[in-house]
Amino acid sequence: MMDGGEDPGGLPRHVAIIMDGNGRWANARNLPRSVGHERGVEALRKTVEGAREIGLTHLTVFSFSTENWRRPVSEVNALFGLLKMYVSQDLNKLKADGVRIRVLGTRTGLPDDIRALVEQAQNETCDNDRFHLCIAFNYGGREEIMRAARQLASDAIAGIADIDSFNEDTFGEYLDTAGLPDPDLVIRTSGEMRISNFLIWQAAYAELVFLDVLWPAFRPKHLREAITSYQARQRRFGGLAAGTL
Ligand code: FPP
Repeated sequence: MMDGGEDPGGLPRHVAIIMDGNGRWANARNLPRSVGHERGVEALRKTVEGAREIGLTHLTVFSFSTENWRRPVSEVNALFGLLKMYVSQDLNKLKADGVRIRVLGTRTGLPDDIRALVEQAQNETCDNDRFHLCIAFNYGGREEIMRAARQLASDAIAGIADIDSFNEDTFGEYLDTAGLPDPDLVIRTSGEMRISNFLIWQAAYAELVFLDVLWPAFRPKHLREAITSYQARQRRFGGLAAGTL
């Protein structure tokens, strides 16, 4: 385990990862992009194991964005197939390890079998709290915020929500991440330096770490490297550094 606690220099409570670079990893080896995604699932498995060993409690990974529908149907189908494979093959182990699974994103547009599997995985792990694994699938930050706003408006009209007493915390309860701590650290692999509509509300104060490694080659040592870099930073949340006059 790395140094624990939520103090400066301690472990981030919640790490979120943009798993980027599967296609480039495959291209560089003259392999189909789908193989890059398959190897990406392997990297994800190792990362979840590594995160638990390090002592993290919350991990969110970006697996399919609402914008990824623009990719060829064959690639979209391959990503759906991999989500199915990952959840169905790993569910029992994750359950036994005390992992709670949550899938962030809209269910609109998802095939029925994927929806059913997502509901099953969430229901069967909802009492676990040793480790929280969130899979952002069919996810876009603006879409999530719009969906929350629509629900809030509808609750206000129905008299369930009191608009005057609404604040950031109560709005957060309408998001897919309700009840979870905000990410302290967002990692993006592959050298790209963008947030790409990922947790744009929740990551408002997150530290960002960009790594040059392509996702299929990501290993727990890279996670440790990112955490070490996070631990060296001074988080101010808009205030001044301690000791500043
Ligand atoms: C980005 O690489 C990655 C994705 C769009 C999908 C991430 C998916 C996985 C890691 C595997 C699937 C896992 C689950 C749980 C479904 P890219 O294709 O954009 O790579 P490129 O930028 O090099 O083309």
